[in-house]
Amino acid sequence: MLSDVPTRSMSPSLSAPAQQALRDGFVWGVATAAYQIEGAAREDGRGPSIWDTFSHTPGKTRNGETGDVACDHYHRWRDDVALIDSLGVDAYRFSIAWPRVQPLGRGAWNNAGLDFYDRLVDALLARGLQPHATLYHWDLPQALQDGGGWGARETALRFADYAEHMGRRLGDRLASLATHNEPWCTAVLGHEIGKFAPGLQDPALTAQVSHHLLLSHGLALRAMRAAGVRCPLGIVLNQSSVSVAEDTEADHALARTEWARFVRWYMDPLFHGRYPDDPGIRHRPQVQDGDLAVIHAPLDFLGINYYTRIWCSAAQPPRPVPRELGVTDMGWEIHPQGLHDLLVRLHREYALPPLFITENGMAHADRLQGGTVDDAPRIDYVRRHLEAIAAARRDGVDVRGYFYWSLMDNYEWDSGYDKRFGLVHVDYATQRRTPKASAHWYRHTIEALRGRRAPAHG
Ligand code: FCB
Repeated sequence: MLSDVPTRSMSPSLSAPAQQALRDGFVWGVATAAYQIEGAAREDGRGPSIWDTFSHTPGKTRNGETGDVACDHYHRWRDDVALIDSLGVDAYRFSIAWPRVQPLGRGAWNNAGLDFYDRLVDALLARGLQPHATLYHWDLPQALQDGGGWGARETALRFADYAEHMGRRLGDRLASLATHNEPWCTAVLGHEIGKFAPGLQDPALTAQVSHHLLLSHGLALRAMRAAGVRCPLGIVLNQSSVSVAEDTEADHALARTEWARFVRWYMDPLFHGRYPDDPGIRHRPQVQDGDLAVIHAPLDFLGINYYTRIWCSAAQPPRPVPRELGVTDMGWEIHPQGLHDLLVRLHREYALPPLFITENGMAHADRLQGGTVDDAPRIDYVRRHLEAIAAARRDGVDVRGYFYWSLMDNYEWDSGYDKRFGLVHVDYATQRRTPKASAHWYRHTIEALRGRRAPAHG
């Protein structure tokens, strides 16, 4: 729990113009995802997901680590909600594990799983915290994978049923509901590169998967709206700015292709109702009549996850590129300017709904020493990215909030427990949570901008 204490200086703080730009009604949050924190993988009727299968397959994750226990949040959720509250944030973004609420991805619902999310949402609300839920953060019920997974159109129909059920159940109490988290990752990392579940390497299938993900999003919005779900509905995309290693036509062509693959492949169907044409895109999905109209449904908000930029070099071997602010423990370049550039470019190229930065954060090789973690580099990372968001707001981009990834250290997919992203340190042997210096800094930053939140109930 974050005590009231730390008296030592919380510098460096945000610049005066950034403070000004982030003052009014800006939503401050932290984010997690079900498989990365919940554990209790075989309890209370939860069905297996593709991540259970993948992480239990030898050689797929670091040291064979799995999310079987993770942060044991399924049992510690009450304390974790108190922990979130103690950070002074407004909002908590979490995901719902589909196989926990509908073990086979079709048919029977699991009341124990539904009750878990009911209680979580109520506990957040009781403390004045906004619940922001995501329906799909990569844990597809294994039974659906066995029927073809996202490669099968049927999975999109199943997802729409799941969305409607959850929307009816929780929608009246949620601050927002997102369909997918980072469909690019599901498609490309899961089906082309194979480093994420389900671990396939099939570029043609990847294109079809990305289409079914988008279709499932559109069908879900349609079903939820028809059912009268009234909370803001949207989707969360991972995006990056794109830089060229050299100012050559070849590098610029590559940059256009990367932008088309990474950003436009999702943004164009959502906002323009068509897939981008780019000579660098080799595989195109089969699209049925009417699909794009379904996908091209109005969004109440768009979530953007930003971690780093993409460098493009057509030369072989690729030209070395500068990484002025260094890299994180993931090896991802720290490039806050890219977040500003991305936001301004999106604002220029699309008619955007309100935006939220639904993830941003850094892995750092944190050490717990003397009951605390001095993670000054993380403070610097967050501060610089907030400055970038503030600058984008001053440039007219409607960014409404920021969710740090992550509330606490957790299971970082194929990297297992080695990469620590949390504001709160987790000792996995004891499940002890210890707020890092960054947690204190975050709370002080928020309080300086909008004063203290009303004290928690209870
Ligand atoms: C994002 C994921 C999130 C986490 C961060 C580091 O791509 O959405 O679950 O793994 O990266």
